[in-house]
Amino acid sequence: MNFVAALSETAEKNLRELEEHIRQAISDDAFIFEACEPLIRGGKRLRPMLMLLCANAKTSCPNERTMPLATALELIHTASLVHDDIIDTSKKRRGVETANSKYGAQIAVLIGDYLFAKAFQLVAENNYDGRVQAILSKLVKNLCVGEIMQDRSLFVVPTMTEYYQRINLKTAIFLSSCCQLGAIVADIDSRDGESLAAYGTSLGLAFQIIDDVLDFVGDEKVTGKPRGGDLKSGVITLPVIRALSTSDEAPALKKIVTGGAVTCTDIDAAIEIIRATDAVNYCKTRAEAHIEAARVNLPSNLKTSVGLALEQIAEFVVARTR
Ligand code: FPP
Ligand code: MG
Repeated sequence: MNFVAALSETAEKNLRELEEHIRQAISDDAFIFEACEPLIRGGKRLRPMLMLLCANAKTSCPNERTMPLATALELIHTASLVHDDIIDTSKKRRGVETANSKYGAQIAVLIGDYLFAKAFQLVAENNYDGRVQAILSKLVKNLCVGEIMQDRSLFVVPTMTEYYQRINLKTAIFLSSCCQLGAIVADIDSRDGESLAAYGTSLGLAFQIIDDVLDFVGDEKVTGKPRGGDLKSGVITLPVIRALSTSDEAPALKKIVTGGAVTCTDIDAAIEIIRATDAVNYCKTRAEAHIEAARVNLPSNLKTSVGLALEQIAEFVVARTR
């Protein structure tokens, strides 16, 4: 299932145009293109799509206004994934070899930095409102704080509050910012802009919870990354938190997830323990509640096609398999 199927013809056309802008953005340097094209190819484009939809939520906003910013959002996201894969020593992402696995961490850091710098170049060259730069800078700072928080507590079971803080910083603020940016470039009134941002926050919480579930139950061929990756790198997420509080085998699970060196056998054992509990359903129910909150926040006065697409994206986020 892909949320592109849910899009109107105009949104689909915008998405095709976005692909061209993204290709252009990584074409200044031959090595960067060679390294980034396969990585960028497999993305869902959720972040730029949210921005584009929100910018066209009431009236149509010219593509010259939206495309550079939409491209910048996808580049920032990809830069953060390139760096995330170095931190996690991941070998596969979006179905292809990660930059760190292919070129080593030194080069991968620079590839991430390049994409990040290119994103800000696009924003600087397209005369966006000062608020755009401020929102982008804050979202990147929050990404870093979320990642630092996560990396300072590897192999430690977080409280529910800590887990939510982390997923808010890592994902919800990013998706919310995309919606807010769309509203800003299209001069949508601040009340509706705030409602769209609130939609993005709830969508982001649901998105990350499902991401954390897919780490245990996802099909590697579909997710494009190995199962159990979070456990292996010591990141303890909601399915584990839930299973630890309900499973008879909680002590064995706790030993695996806090032990510090997780083997493939450990991952299989942990998945089995988690699957024997209600953890997956519990997480899905929580994600659905966030999706319901996202829907409630959608302003009622949006263009029908945009309102529908934002509702269908919300549905996709919980039903997705990648
Ligand atoms: C993927 O999530 C990673 C993130 C959401 C953020 C990573 C952020 C940084 C490395 C800091 C920001 C850096 C720059 C250059 C902007 P995940 O690890 O939960 O998901 P995964 O299973 O896809 O890895
Ligand atoms: Mg990761």
